[in-house]
Amino acid sequence: MENKELVELAIKARKMSYSPYSGFCVGAALETATGEVFTGCNIENAAYGPSNCAERTAFFKAVSEGAREFKRIAIVGAPKDEDITSFCPPCGVCRQVMSEFCDKDSFSVVLYNGKEIRTYTLGELLPLAFELD
Ligand code: THU
Repeated sequence: MENKELVELAIKARKMSYSPYSGFCVGAALETATGEVFTGCNIENAAYGPSNCAERTAFFKAVSEGAREFKRIAIVGAPKDEDITSFCPPCGVCRQVMSEFCDKDSFSVVLYNGKEIRTYTLGELLPLAFELD
């Protein structure tokens, strides 16, 4: 699958965002090692703290279905009813969740600003991740 196709799936997932508090809608599409795709959106909560980012929604869906190896995640975000015009890099908590399951050199994070796709390795976004040995 091309990066652009994975981005399209993230754009579709973004439409399911439940974000009445921030008004910022995020979508993610996570590709497993076998080519299966799990999508996710951000899900907010009146108590704020229990909110979940789109990336973690996608990871938790995938892991809870038995997936353990991942290739790429595409992420898009923009305010509700607005076009995507900026990159939406994952927050630090989501980077740490990615580092639990993904190789820092081969897993790619695919970002899109409405014009251009940029890809980063997980290691570029989270050098020196915390891990227990
Ligand atoms: N959010 C994500 O879903 N992913 C990110 O990478 C950054 C932020 C969500 C959390 C919250 O629902 C909203 O965007 C505004 O922070």
